[in-house]
Amino acid sequence: MPDLFETMSTMRAMRRLKPDPVPDELINKILQAGQWAPSGGNTQRWRFLVVKDPEVKQKVQVYYKRLYDETVGPRYASSAPPPGSDAARYQRQNAAVQYLTDHYHEAPVWIVACLEDGENPGRTAGSSIYGAVQNMCLACRALGLGTTLTTRHTGYGKEVDAIFGLPPGAHSYAILPIGWPMGRFGPLGRGPLKDVVYGDQWGQPYQGL
Ligand SMILES: Cc1cc2nc3c(=O)[nH]c(=O)nc-3n(C[C@H](O)[C@H](O)[C@H](O)COP(=O)(O)O)c2cc1C
Repeated sequence: MPDLFETMSTMRAMRRLKPDPVPDELINKILQAGQWAPSGGNTQRWRFLVVKDPEVKQKVQVYYKRLYDETVGPRYASSAPPPGSDAARYQRQNAAVQYLTDHYHEAPVWIVACLEDGENPGRTAGSSIYGAVQNMCLACRALGLGTTLTTRHTGYGKEVDAIFGLPPGAHSYAILPIGWPMGRFGPLGRGPLKDVVYGDQWGQPYQGL
């Protein structure tokens, strides 16, 4: 098993996944990693939905694809590559995003990260679930499983939460499609660290780097 820094630095968004089943034993390890995360006041209002039912996944994929066609696709077509990327890399990213969009429901297992956060969740609500989500992504990587943190479905949040049978006062914050990766894990593309770290005051260089 790689060490934590190796795990983090090679934990690419893995969007091409095989449909082969993933043993429950591994899913359980991932869920446990999620539950080990911190939450504000240790309230632990998370609920993790393990979705394998092809019909449920297919219904959600329709909304996921609709959002690609309506907003995500046009945005990729018109925006500049992010820091640490270039036109060719960005094009490959978009191709992978399109692939996941078309094959979202074919991932054998989804973990849907939900919160019982009330009717009108505030600005920090997500901070009590995304730590758990990141823990689960790291656990997938450590087990050799591929996943990607996805939130696009929230563009049709009400519709999708209804498909999952969420009660009022609970919301889904992320869907992790999980499966054995077709490609390999590898180094991430990010911009220079010094571009995003300031010292003492916003905009001042941090001398420690
Ligand atoms: C809040 C958040 C939401 C995201 N939603 C999606 C999504 O809906 N679909 C998707 O394919 N990737 C999604 N991603 C993955 C990002 O696109 C990915 O982290 C980014 O492209 C960097 O990829 P890399 O880690 O492989 O370099 C999301 C990531 C974050 C942090």
